[in-house]
Amino acid sequence: MHQMRTQDTHCTIKVVAVCYIKILTLLPFMVIKPQPGTLFCSPVSSRKYFEFGTRMALTKSHPFLKYLLHLAHDNLDFRLPEIKALLSLRGKPFHPYENFNEKSPFWRLKDLSEEDVRGIMARSVCAKSAFELWGHGQTHSELRTSLLNYPLENMSPFMQKDSTYRINVYTFNKTLEFTDRLKRIDALDYLPFEGTVSLKSPQHIFCLLEDYGTDPNSIPEHPIHIYFGRWIADGQRELIRSHSVKNRHFIGNTSMDAGLSLIMANHAKVKENDLVFDPFVGTGSLLVACSHFGAYVCGTDIDYNTIHGKGRSSRRNQKWRGPDENIRANLRQYGTEKMYLDVMVSDASKPVWRNAALFDAIITDPPYGIRESTRRTGSHKDITKPPEGIYVESHVPVSQVYHLSDIFTDLLNFSAQHLVMGGTLVYWLPVYQPEYCEEMVPLHPCLRLISNCEQTLSSHTSRRLITMEKIKEPEELDSSAHLADPCFSPYQGHNAFREKYFSGLNKKCGKDNNKSDVNVE
Ligand SMILES: C[S@@+](CC[C@H](N)C(=O)[O-])C[C@H]1O[C@@H](n2cnc3c(N)ncnc32)[C@H](O)[C@@H]1O
Repeated sequence: MHQMRTQDTHCTIKVVAVCYIKILTLLPFMVIKPQPGTLFCSPVSSRKYFEFGTRMALTKSHPFLKYLLHLAHDNLDFRLPEIKALLSLRGKPFHPYENFNEKSPFWRLKDLSEEDVRGIMARSVCAKSAFELWGHGQTHSELRTSLLNYPLENMSPFMQKDSTYRINVYTFNKTLEFTDRLKRIDALDYLPFEGTVSLKSPQHIFCLLEDYGTDPNSIPEHPIHIYFGRWIADGQRELIRSHSVKNRHFIGNTSMDAGLSLIMANHAKVKENDLVFDPFVGTGSLLVACSHFGAYVCGTDIDYNTIHGKGRSSRRNQKWRGPDENIRANLRQYGTEKMYLDVMVSDASKPVWRNAALFDAIITDPPYGIRESTRRTGSHKDITKPPEGIYVESHVPVSQVYHLSDIFTDLLNFSAQHLVMGGTLVYWLPVYQPEYCEEMVPLHPCLRLISNCEQTLSSHTSRRLITMEKIKEPEELDSSAHLADPCFSPYQGHNAFREKYFSGLNKKCGKDNNKSDVNVE
C-alpha cells in the first residue's frame, strides 16, 4: 500500500510553465481563423484547426456530460455503496459506462449534471476528485482521437483568451520522471488552449490521468487507461485528518476511526436536520460524523463512566479522564455542538423509547466482546423486584451476558420499530471468515439489505458494514419472524466470535492492543 501511495503522485506544476513557454515559441507558426458557426477561434495550426472544425460538424454536445471520479485506493468495498447512497440522496441512479470495474480507481459515470457531481464530492470520503471527462483511451493515440471528437462548444468556455489555466499530470501505480511528465503535456498541444497559464490560482484546472493498473508487483510499461478532463471538485478526504481520533478531546478503547464513521454516515444517507440515534454510543464517534452532515444526534450506552466521561483514560499518557471529556465536548471541538441532543445510560436490550418511528437513521457499532463486555441488565436468577425508596438512585442492576445473536436480533427489531419509513440502519457485524456466508447476515421482514461491505481485521476475522432500509411498518408477527421463517433466524455462530477472534494469530494482536489511542475493535 505504501509503495502504491508513493507511486500515486501529482505532477509538479512547474512542468506546465515549461510547456507554456514551448507553446509560445510555436505561436508564429500558427494561424488564427475564426469560422462562422463555431465558437472556436484559438491560435492553433491550420491542420489542428481543420481537425477540430471537421469534427465540430459531426458532433453535437450532450445535455449530460461524462464525468470521471477518481477514488481513493483504500476501503475498496465501501466506495460503491457510498457513491450510490450519495447519488440516491440527490434522486440520481448510479449509471457507469460499459466495462465498469469496481476495483479501479477511475469510474466513468453518465446521466449526471455538474451540480450532481459537486454534491457528491461535498460529501464523499471515498472519492478524491471529480472531472468533466473530455476524452479517454487505452493509448495516447486513442485519447487524442477521443479528445478531437469532444464537442468544441463544451471545451471553449474554459479555454477563452482571458482565462487562466493549469494542467496537472496524475499517474496511478507508477511514478513518472519529470521529463516524461513534460512530454505528456507537450503531447497535448493539439488542444486549443487560449488562456494564460497560472500555476498558483488558475480559473480552470485540467488533468491528464494515467492508470497503470492496481497491481504494484506488475506495473505495465504503458498505461492501461488514459483520461483527460476538467477538474470540478475534490472529495472530503481532508476530514479524515481533521477529525482523526488521535486529536480528539474524548476517546475510548473502541472509538471508531474518523474515515469509517464518515463513510457510515454516508451509507446511512444522513442529511441536514435528520435525527440520528446510536444505541451503543461509546465516545460518540458516529455522532460526530453525523452531526458534521447536519443531523441532530443522540445515543445511549450501558456504561455510566463512558456516558459521563469519568473513570480511566484510554490515552497512554493519562490515568484518569479529565474534566469535560465527554461526547458533547467532542461535538464542540468540531463546531457541531448545536446538533447534540443528549446521551444517556441505558441498556440497548431494554429500550426506553416510546413505540413510534422516531429516527431517520440508526448508526451503531455494537460491542463484540473483544475490548468491552457484551452485557445487559438482568439476572439468570430472575430477580424482578425493583429496589425501593432511597436505594433507587444508587442501585446498580445485576447484569448477564448479552449474546451477539441477541444483540443483532434486538437491533433489527428496534430499527424496524423506531426508524421512519425509508430510514436507514447501518451497523458492524463481526464475522469469522472461514465460516462466513451471506446467510449469516441477520434479516428482518421490515428491513431491506442495501449493502454488505467487508473490512478485514486479521487473517481470519473481519467485520462487515451492513446497511438496511426500512421498507414496511412492523406488524405483530414481524418482531418474532425468526420463529416462523428460518431466513430470519439469528445465526448462533456469532456468539462464539470472541473465542474465534482470540484463537491463533489474533491472540497476540488482541493482547498487545489493550490500550491504545486509535482502535479498530
Ligand atoms: C464498540 S463500542 C462503541 C464505540 C463507539 N462507536 C465509539 O466510537 O466510541 C460498544 C459500546 O457498547 C456499549 N454496550 C455494551 N453493552 C451494551 C448494552 N447492553 N446496551 C448499551 N450499550 C452497551 C459498550 O459500553 C461500548 O461503549
